[in-house]
Amino acid sequence: MRALALDTASTQTVLALADLDEISGEVTLLASCQVDAPRQANQVLLARAALLLEEAGLVTGDVDAVAVGRGPGSFTGVRIGVATAKGIACGLGVALYGVSTLDSVAWRAWRAGVRGRLGVVADAMRKEVYPVRYELDDAGITRLDPDTVAKPAQVAQAWAGEEDDITLTGDGLLKYAEFFEGAPFAFAPEELWLPDGQSLVSAFAQAFATGKAGSGDAAALVPVYTRLSDAEENEQARLAKMTDPRDAQKRERLQREIERTDRAMRVSRPKSEGATEGAATYEPPFILAIESSCDETAAAVIDGGRDVLADCIASQIDFHKRFGGVVPEIASRKHTEAIVPTVMYTMEQAGLGFGDLSAVACTIGPGLVGALVVGVAFAKGLCFATGLPFIGVNHLEGHLYANRYVDPTLEPPFVALLVSGGHTMLVHVRGWGDYEVLGSTLDDAVGEAFDKVAKALELGYPGGPVLSRYAKDGDAKAIAFPRAMMHSGDLRFSLSGLKTAVITYINEQNKAGMSIDIPDLAASFTAAVVDVLVAKSLDACKQTGSCVLCIGGGVAANPDLREALAASLGKRGIRVIMPELSDCADNASMIASVGLDLFEAGERTGLDADPQAHMPLRTRE
Ligand code: KG4
Ligand code: ZN
Repeated sequence: MRALALDTASTQTVLALADLDEISGEVTLLASCQVDAPRQANQVLLARAALLLEEAGLVTGDVDAVAVGRGPGSFTGVRIGVATAKGIACGLGVALYGVSTLDSVAWRAWRAGVRGRLGVVADAMRKEVYPVRYELDDAGITRLDPDTVAKPAQVAQAWAGEEDDITLTGDGLLKYAEFFEGAPFAFAPEELWLPDGQSLVSAFAQAFATGKAGSGDAAALVPVYTRLSDAEENEQARLAKMTDPRDAQKRERLQREIERTDRAMRVSRPKSEGATEGAATYEPPFILAIESSCDETAAAVIDGGRDVLADCIASQIDFHKRFGGVVPEIASRKHTEAIVPTVMYTMEQAGLGFGDLSAVACTIGPGLVGALVVGVAFAKGLCFATGLPFIGVNHLEGHLYANRYVDPTLEPPFVALLVSGGHTMLVHVRGWGDYEVLGSTLDDAVGEAFDKVAKALELGYPGGPVLSRYAKDGDAKAIAFPRAMMHSGDLRFSLSGLKTAVITYINEQNKAGMSIDIPDLAASFTAAVVDVLVAKSLDACKQTGSCVLCIGGGVAANPDLREALAASLGKRGIRVIMPELSDCADNASMIASVGLDLFEAGERTGLDADPQAHMPLRTRE
């Protein structure tokens, strides 16, 4: 078996090519490299992999297995390696195996001649380490402990009680050597503290021989974390505190909710239902798109006429609901689990193989970096393996393009109102790919305001849909909330004042022992938001002389906003285009649509690209 092995769990990006004799277990290193690239694994990994293949006189098609370091280590670092490796393995159609990064560090010491008891202490950040002990003899290494995370002082104390001397290694020593001074500890030379190509390959050979490398299924491989996200730890602490018998019911409810939502994510396919049936014929180019900027793992395939062959979404929403909002660390973990099933299912729905595709597009920003990184690393790995062009897409441009599914003849110039959980802005679309931001929010995004108000009312997450259900039965004039910057004369927004006014209102009612009429409050709050959005949208059309307004983003699904825009702008002869409700939320077909235009314009993104949390819209100026 010819394996490409990589590990990005530490500050060192490690790569190796090796031949593994599956019967004798003998492993031969063909080429390897280590790059000191703290926080830059996503930029350097694939360029180095290409160099390595070249050095060994090989091409990607010669690789028949991929092995990846599963950590423990930096969460994002490990996910970059794991997601890239998943992309490569899927693209090549080969097995993906996992390797312990700590075992790899132990093998490095073994290769340098260390024998006897070895303690690896890898840096776990937050003043903690990942400690594991090994026994090294001439035959190899034997792991003595499972993966855990602990304070260095505790580790030193526990290990000091042993009879044997312990040689220490691992990058935790860079910060915590002082805890391990004196007998029974001795330090391995510092140049051995991180894994290298040879040690990674030795660890892989051992893991493979002992069945610890996994089944080879790329979908099933996950990083080693050793600890929950902070949000889940707090939840566990809350559960542990519910010891009062009166809390029994509450505790049970929470436990049931945890069990229910911890199970697999929902995968829906809004457009692919029946899409491949019937007489439809699809024309190349075929674009696969991937979206992972927030809490949905999505993939879609469209053809050259923008027809959707498949469009799948794995939603994490049930999971985040437990915490009242999107928890970035959980989102990143869920994307890592969902990326392979979502993409493979989408390809299956489309009835295509990777060889039929023309390019892979992927959201590259703006969004949660840790979440974006998973989609981007996977997509780049896939492109590396298949030779397909990689195309990075701006998420907001995707929301704009969703309008092309309503009216395929839509052509700029026009004005677009983008309203989502992270953005509130008016954009002058001068041409496809030529955008001028006319004004955006100075503080909160509209969706964020909906979410925070719903949270204050304990209505759960996300707030938009639940508040709009209540608003239907409420009186929009019941409570006078401020319309901030309504007459500011520019196209900027401010939502935090309104949010504070609503929350103050709720607190005052509660303090006075007065009940809150939720429908009235929801309707009054929504009206305050909608009035400003409508007035500014109208101003934007006037300013630019535009007679078309498009909308996009999750809040564009709000029925009051849709109705008010249609009525108010319609009256003034402005045509309002609104994506279907399911197309307002995050999805990948909108990303594919942007990807198609970029592909046809000859735009390509390098495999050294990294996601951008804040990414401006394109302009031609
Ligand atoms: O575009 P999106 O799915 O994700 C981001 O890119 O942020 O938008 C999600 C946001 C959430 O804040 C959610 O509360 C809001 O859109 N939202 C709504 C409605 N449906 C979703 N806000 C108001 N009314 C709705 N019906
Ligand atoms: Zn969005």
